[in-house]
Amino acid sequence: MKDDHIVFRGEVLDLLDQRLLPLEAKRLPCDNVESLIKAIKSMAVRGAPAIGVAAAYGCVLAAREAKDEADLERLLHDLENARPTAVNLSWAVRKMRALWQPGTPLEEAAQIFMAEAIAIHQADIEACRAIGRYGAELIDDGDCVLTHCNAGALATGGYGTALGVIRAAWEAGKKISVIADETRPLLQGARLTAWELRQLGIPVTIACDNACALVMGRGLAQKVVTGADRIAANGDTANKIGTCGVAILARHFDIPFYIAAPLSTIDPSLENGSQIPIESRQTDEVCAINGKRVAPEGVKALNFAFDVTPAALIAGIITERGVLRPPYGESISRIFKGVWK
Ligand code: MRU
Repeated sequence: MKDDHIVFRGEVLDLLDQRLLPLEAKRLPCDNVESLIKAIKSMAVRGAPAIGVAAAYGCVLAAREAKDEADLERLLHDLENARPTAVNLSWAVRKMRALWQPGTPLEEAAQIFMAEAIAIHQADIEACRAIGRYGAELIDDGDCVLTHCNAGALATGGYGTALGVIRAAWEAGKKISVIADETRPLLQGARLTAWELRQLGIPVTIACDNACALVMGRGLAQKVVTGADRIAANGDTANKIGTCGVAILARHFDIPFYIAAPLSTIDPSLENGSQIPIESRQTDEVCAINGKRVAPEGVKALNFAFDVTPAALIAGIITERGVLRPPYGESISRIFKGVWK
C-alpha cells in the first residue's frame, strides 16, 4: 500500500479523495483553507489522525494565504472547528498555534508550520507502527478480528491504528482474517477497510452492521479492534456510530474488545465520555443511497456520526507507548505524567 493519501506538493495539499474509493482513486488538490475545510467536512479526508495531519498542513496554507495576523487566527479557528468529535484536529492546530509568536512574519510562520506538519505526519506513522507492534501480541494465530469503520492507513498519517494491529499480526506470520462491518451510512468498512485489506492480501469478509450479534454468537470473531476519535480521561471512547453496540455485544459473547489509538486521540481535559461532542450530519446521508432517495419524502433521519463506548467495556487501549489497562483513569494519568513502564 502506498501511503500517499496526504501529500504536500509545492503550493498544494494533495489528498486522495476517500469518498470515491474503491471505485475511483482520484486526487483532490486543496490550495486554500476553505477547500481543505470542505474536504474535511465532506469526508474526502477522514479518520481522526488523518484529519489531524491534514489540518497541520492546512495551517501552512493558512499562513500563506492570511492577509494579516487576525486573518490567520480566523483561518486557524475555522480549520480547528471543521469537525467536532475527533480531538486530533484541534490537537494539531493547537500545536501549531503554540509555535507561532504574534509579530512573526507570516512567511516565517508558514515555514515553521511546514516543519511541524511534517513532524506530526511522520510521528503519526511511527505511532501507528508502534501500536501495531504492541497490538499484534494480543492477536492469536488463527483469530478472526472484527473491526468497525476504517482505522487503516487512510484514516491516519499511514499504516493505521486498528488495521495497524491487524497488519502487524499478519506481518508477524499469524494466519488471521478480518470481518469488516460495512459501517452505515457512509460504508467506510465495506469501501475502505475492505479495499486496504485486499491490497495487503489479508483475508477480509464484509458483514452488515446488524449482523454483528449473529456473527459473534456463531463464534465467527475472536477479537474486536477498532480505532477512536476521542478518549476521555476515564477511558470512555468515542468512535464511529455503532461501535458502542459492537462493544456491548462483545461483552455479552465474552469477546475481548480493544481500542487502538495514538496518544494524540486522548483528551485528558474531559473527565468522561458524556463531555465528548458528537457530530450530527445531514440526514441525506441516511435517507438516500448513491444520491437516490430511499426513505419517503419528508421523513427525517438521526445521523449521529459517533457514539461513546463506556470504558468498562474496553479490555485494553493500544497506544504507541503500550497497552493501557483498566482502571483507565489511572493508566491514562500515568502515561501523561510520563510515569509509564
Ligand atoms: O467519520 P469518520 O470516517 O472520520 O470516522 C472515523 C472513525 O470513526 C475511525 O474509527 C477513527 O477516526 C479512528 S481512525 C484511525
